[in-house]
Amino acid sequence: MDNFQDRIIIFDTTLRDGEQSPGATLNVEEKLEIAHALSRLGVDVIEAGFAFASPGDFEAVEKIASQVGTEDGPVICSLARAIKADIKAAAEALAPAAKGRIHTFISTSDIHLEYQLKKSRAEVLDIATEMVAYAKSFMDDVEFSPMDAVRTDSEYLYQVLEAAIAAGATTINIPDTVGYTTPSEFGALIKGICDNVPNIDRAVVSVHGHNDLGLAVANFLEAIKNGARQLECTINGIGERAGNAALEELVMALHVRRQYFNPFLGRPAESTEPLTNIDTQQIYKTSRLVSNRTGVIVQPNKAIVGANAFAHESGIHQDGVLKNKLTYEIMDAQSIGLVDNQQIIMGKHSGRNAFRTRLGELGFELSETDLNKAFVRFKEVADKKKEISDWDLEAIVSDEIRQPPELFRLELVQVSCGDRSRPTATVTLRTPEGEELTDAAIGTGPVDAIYKAINRVTNIPNQLIEFSVQSVTAGIDAIGEVTIRLRYKDRVYSGRAANTDIIVASARAYIKALNRLYAALQQEEKVAAQVAI
Ligand code: KIV
Ligand code: ZN
Repeated sequence: MDNFQDRIIIFDTTLRDGEQSPGATLNVEEKLEIAHALSRLGVDVIEAGFAFASPGDFEAVEKIASQVGTEDGPVICSLARAIKADIKAAAEALAPAAKGRIHTFISTSDIHLEYQLKKSRAEVLDIATEMVAYAKSFMDDVEFSPMDAVRTDSEYLYQVLEAAIAAGATTINIPDTVGYTTPSEFGALIKGICDNVPNIDRAVVSVHGHNDLGLAVANFLEAIKNGARQLECTINGIGERAGNAALEELVMALHVRRQYFNPFLGRPAESTEPLTNIDTQQIYKTSRLVSNRTGVIVQPNKAIVGANAFAHESGIHQDGVLKNKLTYEIMDAQSIGLVDNQQIIMGKHSGRNAFRTRLGELGFELSETDLNKAFVRFKEVADKKKEISDWDLEAIVSDEIRQPPELFRLELVQVSCGDRSRPTATVTLRTPEGEELTDAAIGTGPVDAIYKAINRVTNIPNQLIEFSVQSVTAGIDAIGEVTIRLRYKDRVYSGRAANTDIIVASARAYIKALNRLYAALQQEEKVAAQVAI
């Protein structure tokens, strides 16, 4: 890899660390879809998964390597513990990629050595050296992470890093595994590494950090000022516990404050060259896709991609923005690909061509079949809702097109409720075998009644752990988006659906989550049957 010392490498780990968010499990097709979106976004490296972890993870890394890891595409990376079997699996899964990277790691802090690894510092130093060399025997591009680096004795850390680079690591990554550090401390750690590891000029210095104290992005920005050139981050900041540093926040900080950061990368302050390769106009779309597929909702006040990030409520602010946007806005919503959500662009008289053109402008490339499906749904919505905004269109496309195959299909949902009646629901579902089944149930509320009726038909054991409704746009006729999360054993399955009727959206979201759970149960049965043979 080039010596990217004058620009920032964006290493996206949405599909690996991001997928470690509770309940964010993705199937192979969804991972592939996200990987394509990350490639359009312009990330330099996609950490596609942890190939050794399961056959599903291996398949996802391999498919992403072959379909997204093209010559002019991003580097495709797989995580691997510092264990031969892990590294070998990573190398095999990455084989189809034009540019592959093995990312191997081992803990180096005393607390991890004593309680988790039960090994001495000398033993870990040897393992790190040997496993980096082993990874290097498969490919040139090798990244090494001393896990819990922030709580590792700094002299020992320098020693491990020097040995890893000598063994062939081309990137050394400094993780704040537990989200403990603060910006000035982290900056000093990165400076210490740059000053004290003798062969540091042979590797790119990378940072990885969790957001337990809400400081991950600030820590990374300080790290850049002290020599870090690769940022490991995720879309919407998803990830283990409180998540990872958010890609969109880092990229937009470097975009909006370019003049401030330029000199730290050896450029004149006034240079207009972007600091990253990211196409910022893809940010909003990618954020929605990831939220949609993982079922992890973006909080409304989330920086850059939250629903309120560009909304002005106070009269003073609105007055200022109308006179000159820059009075209260530091960036333009269009720079992240967000079109004005108040812009009414379509209604029930809009034709198929206008619909197709607008979707194209919003970046959706649909096949003829998908376009037809989406158009039928658009007409249904337009009958109920006079004005359709870009946000509504995006919800329609996400709901109708980008969904896993339907196993159970909702044919009918009917509820009766009110302050003098017991909430009662009737549902008709088509089963995967094509049979139509109807049942009814009474619940504590209409949604509870629907879910009980659906459970009577499907008989799929599960525990509902999250139900939330968000409106896509303002107004009484707004499209409501329902997100559901179910737990079965130790896994969580999500479903999301949008409709002007939130009762219908609730039923559809539940069916989508159940379909995922059902598909996973079928897969388990298939594997068990193979093992039995
Ligand atoms: O948080 C962490 O330390 C990690 C490593 C595997 C890089 O995710
Ligand atoms: Zn991590």
